[in-house]
Amino acid sequence: MQHLTVIAASPMFCHDESTTGPAGMSDTALRLDLPATIAHRGLSALAPENTLAAVRAAHAAGHHWVELDVQLLGDGTPVIWHDAGVRRCSNGRGKLNQLTWDSASRLDVGRWFDRAFSDERMATLDAMLALLAELGMGLNLEMKVNRGRDVDALVERVLPDAMQALPAERLLVSSFDMTALNAVRRLAPDPQHLALGLLYKKLPRDWEDNAARLEAFSLHLDWQRLKLTQAQEVAASPYRLLCYTVNDAKAYRRLCEWGVDAVISDDPGQLTR
Ligand code: G3P
Ligand code: MG
Repeated sequence: MQHLTVIAASPMFCHDESTTGPAGMSDTALRLDLPATIAHRGLSALAPENTLAAVRAAHAAGHHWVELDVQLLGDGTPVIWHDAGVRRCSNGRGKLNQLTWDSASRLDVGRWFDRAFSDERMATLDAMLALLAELGMGLNLEMKVNRGRDVDALVERVLPDAMQALPAERLLVSSFDMTALNAVRRLAPDPQHLALGLLYKKLPRDWEDNAARLEAFSLHLDWQRLKLTQAQEVAASPYRLLCYTVNDAKAYRRLCEWGVDAVISDDPGQLTR
């Protein structure tokens, strides 16, 4: 298994050991068992994204961590899903927040990807956490806040279950939404008990203030917008640097040279082939 090692103030090249959080790199700091590659939405190049099948595929391919998106249905059921609606990834139509579990569970969420996945059902958070726990896998759980959604309801419903199901070294909670990140840290104030990742499309000027205030573990940036100077700035900080969504082997090698700690990829296996 390929892991990272993180040594303060030294160059990082997608190394091979678990990585400590920024809390002074002390023995008591949270050690996250984070590999150099994370399967995006499960192994989404080879199975329908954000499904139990995609996580099983990631595990079967030898990957130890997955990134998954979580949202609430209209009846408050937490489900693993990316879009605001169900059109792209199911045989249904409509908005996620207008569905109950009774109706959502009838959708076929596999056939759009490939006939071999017909009858795959939407995964509840509970079912997904049970699978990850059974497989001993790590989770980068993205609190996905689509427009008009109740952020506090999402965090309050999801976070306790995720923290209950997985050990702290195998859970990283991330979001683009600052309100969600604030709510996560309010509910889990100890950074040694919960690693937090700040997702950005582009690194903002105030990133370090936000990371310090939230006692973040990591920053997750779009590799296509990342500049070398920014990567160096984050690599020199106490925070880990993750990039999404890296599907190009040459880009992966360059990012490793830039000091990126881990990448999120639709098919991590093809990065090192
Ligand atoms: O967490 C990294 C990545 O998943 C963020 O973008 O749109 O794929 O959820 P998206
Ligand atoms: Mg995501």
